[in-house]
Amino acid sequence: MPSASRRFAVLLIFAGVALTILYFSGYSDTIDSVGAQLRPASKEATQQPIVVEDSILHGHAIAPKLGNETAKAELGRAAWKLFHTTFARFPDKPTKDESRALKSYIHLFQRLYPCGECATHFGELLQKYPPQVSSRSSAAAWGCHVHNKVNERLKKELFDCSNIGDFYDCGCAEDEKEGGTKAQGKAETS
Ligand SMILES: Cc1cc2nc3c(=O)[nH]c(=O)nc-3n(C[C@H](O)[C@H](O)[C@H](O)COP(=O)(O)OP(=O)(O)OC[C@H]3O[C@@H](n4cnc5c(N)ncnc54)[C@H](O)[C@@H]3O)c2cc1C
Ligand SMILES: *[C@@H]1O[C@H](CO)[C@@H](O)[C@H](O)[C@H]1NC(C)=O
Repeated sequence: MPSASRRFAVLLIFAGVALTILYFSGYSDTIDSVGAQLRPASKEATQQPIVVEDSILHGHAIAPKLGNETAKAELGRAAWKLFHTTFARFPDKPTKDESRALKSYIHLFQRLYPCGECATHFGELLQKYPPQVSSRSSAAAWGCHVHNKVNERLKKELFDCSNIGDFYDCGCAEDEKEGGTKAQGKAETS
């Protein structure tokens, strides 16, 4: 065989092998993505730390506009309940890690809040009034304050924040001793 056509033959074989590899790796990727939800995460995957960067915490509001006023009000009542109860059960003396977790949570709560226009307004409030996460009482007082800012804008009655401690005591303080991962202070209101 002349050397030119031999080179061509070698090239063809290479191309064939490369295409075959490409095809099968693509195929196994498809299988992977389908099976991924069913299989437990690999050890390697669970060891990947989740790093919540500042740009993720402070980005634009993600959800679209929520035009339905009934749905918006229902969502609001449920969200405020979750928000204030979270603060009412936050530790009196949180660790640095716990305070950072709460702060990140509040910022992600804002970004992902399912009413886009609400989230945009709330983002402005967070800029003006940064989350207070150094203790249960400061978080609860901060939550009451920003909720009142929303009430004010929507021309609603303001809430008396000196009542906040009693109002969101869910009566579940005793569960902490059994179910909690770490014993926390009791739900004292001062
Ligand atoms: C982050 C966020 C942003 C929102 N932005 C908008 C918006 O831009 N436009 C819009 O139309 N709706 C918005 N909403 C919804 C709105 O705040 C109300 O939830 C909704 O209008 C229903 O109002 P409501 O009168 O039933 O009482 P809510 O304001 O839902 O309050 C529920 C209950 O919480 C108690 N409460 C009231 N004030 C306080 C306070 N300061 N601290 C603690 N407890 C209190 C009262 O018992 C009240 O009945 C938002 C909700 C959230 C969570
Ligand atoms: C608005 O939302 C409420 C509560 O979710 C729902 O029952 C109602 O059907 C919605 N209205 C429209 C026009 O979609």
